[in-house]
Amino acid sequence: MFGRRAASAPVPAPAAQPAAVQAAAPASDQRLPDQRLSDIKIAIFNDLINSVDPTELGRLDGHAVREEISDIVAEIISMRNLTLSAAEQQVVIADICNDVLGLGPLEPLIARDDIADIMVNGAGKVYIETNGRIELTDIRFRDNAQLMNICQRIVSAVGRRVDEASPICDARLADGSRVNVIVPPLALDGPTLTIRKFKRDKLTLDKLIGFGTISPAGAKLLEVAAASRCNILVSGGTGSGKTTLLNCLTLYIDAGERIVTCEDAAELQLQQPHVVRLETRPPNLEGVGQVTMRDLVRNCLRMRPERIIVGEVRGPEAFDLLQAMNTGHDGSMGTIHANTPRDALSRVENMIAMGGYNLPAKAVREQISSAVNIIVQASRLRDGSRKITHVTEVVGMEGDVITLQDLFVYDIEGEDAQGRITGRHRATGIRPAFWDRARYFGRERELAEALSDHV
Ligand SMILES: Nc1ncnc2c1ncn2[C@@H]1O[C@H](COP(=O)(O)OP(=O)(O)OP(=O)(O)O)[C@@H](O)[C@H]1O
Ligand SMILES: [Mg+2]
Repeated sequence: MFGRRAASAPVPAPAAQPAAVQAAAPASDQRLPDQRLSDIKIAIFNDLINSVDPTELGRLDGHAVREEISDIVAEIISMRNLTLSAAEQQVVIADICNDVLGLGPLEPLIARDDIADIMVNGAGKVYIETNGRIELTDIRFRDNAQLMNICQRIVSAVGRRVDEASPICDARLADGSRVNVIVPPLALDGPTLTIRKFKRDKLTLDKLIGFGTISPAGAKLLEVAAASRCNILVSGGTGSGKTTLLNCLTLYIDAGERIVTCEDAAELQLQQPHVVRLETRPPNLEGVGQVTMRDLVRNCLRMRPERIIVGEVRGPEAFDLLQAMNTGHDGSMGTIHANTPRDALSRVENMIAMGGYNLPAKAVREQISSAVNIIVQASRLRDGSRKITHVTEVVGMEGDVITLQDLFVYDIEGEDAQGRITGRHRATGIRPAFWDRARYFGRERELAEALSDHV
């Protein structure tokens, strides 16, 4: 049979009767059904990995491997004289296939499209986020060794290993989902895996309107800002929807423009034909070969981009992005981790200070205020809903302080009977400083309409 290891023969000699499937557990078996099945699974799994070479199995396509494994498992069941119902046998085979080939107990979660994040805190706790809420699932790994094995399989796809010597790793699943792995001794309660599920059907501004994330008028304002080549920072906390929003905004970029995107793990899906996608690279096992976001942003300045899109600005590349925004690459965009638009600006300032450029604070602020036009603030509210809470414009400087004005805001009004937050989006009625820019791009009427929705 394919992939069998010649030397080891852990499976006992075939039993006389073809006892592949029997009715139920004998009455003498006092273990709980779940425990019994899990013990059987472990025994079969151990036999299987002793008798086949998983790397050889890995060379077969998914369907053939499953068939091969089903045959071997059926054989092991028969040889070990195990008592399993037909349904139980199917469960065992499916679980073992997932274990050998896929992500083990996580496979059913990976298949679900309603899940935003999967968070595994050691073998015993798997959380998911659906509809903005985090909940504990009843999925468990057999033990931390099984979980570690799966972590190893995930990171090996990007040519890495996780172990005591290199306990942190970013990787990607075959479907594009972003993965972070951190293992002991850094993670105290066992290997910890965080998966941001990749959504094939990216959200659009229309869908965000449907979710109540933004009002139609607010969405129009964002569309005009993106189409009029404003430099935009999308600010927000973890998982607040920054990348999603950035992706939505890129939809309004003209198809004729040359766009370069720089990301840590490619998440954006631009629809335009002329896009160059760049990705950073962590150092390899010997600690060399790292390519940082800053390297990418600097390099893309030499690639004649019309717009630069930075997935997440979080270090000294902030300075290079500002330079780009200030030197004719209008319409550049990026996301930043901050809780308010004002906060986003101080984060940029801090990133530049940490980058070791010895610039006076005022000079840095001047750079920021002339580079950034719009800050869009995304938030995940306490009821799990995601809202755009501010569309704020950077207008200039007053003394040493950058002046901001809110063009669009979300006012929280209260809570309904189900505990959902109620409120409304409204234009503040302030005339935007980018009015002339919008007029230049022929978007003035739409801008006026979007802003007429004020109280
Ligand atoms: N407005 C929204 N309504 C509902 N779900 C949303 C909304 N925006 C984003 N999501 C979902 O929330 C999850 C997180 O979104 P996203 O990756 O955009 O967040 P992020 O702020 O970039 O997170 P991170 O800080 O981890 O980079 C995704 O699964 C996405 O599909
Ligand atoms: Mg993101």
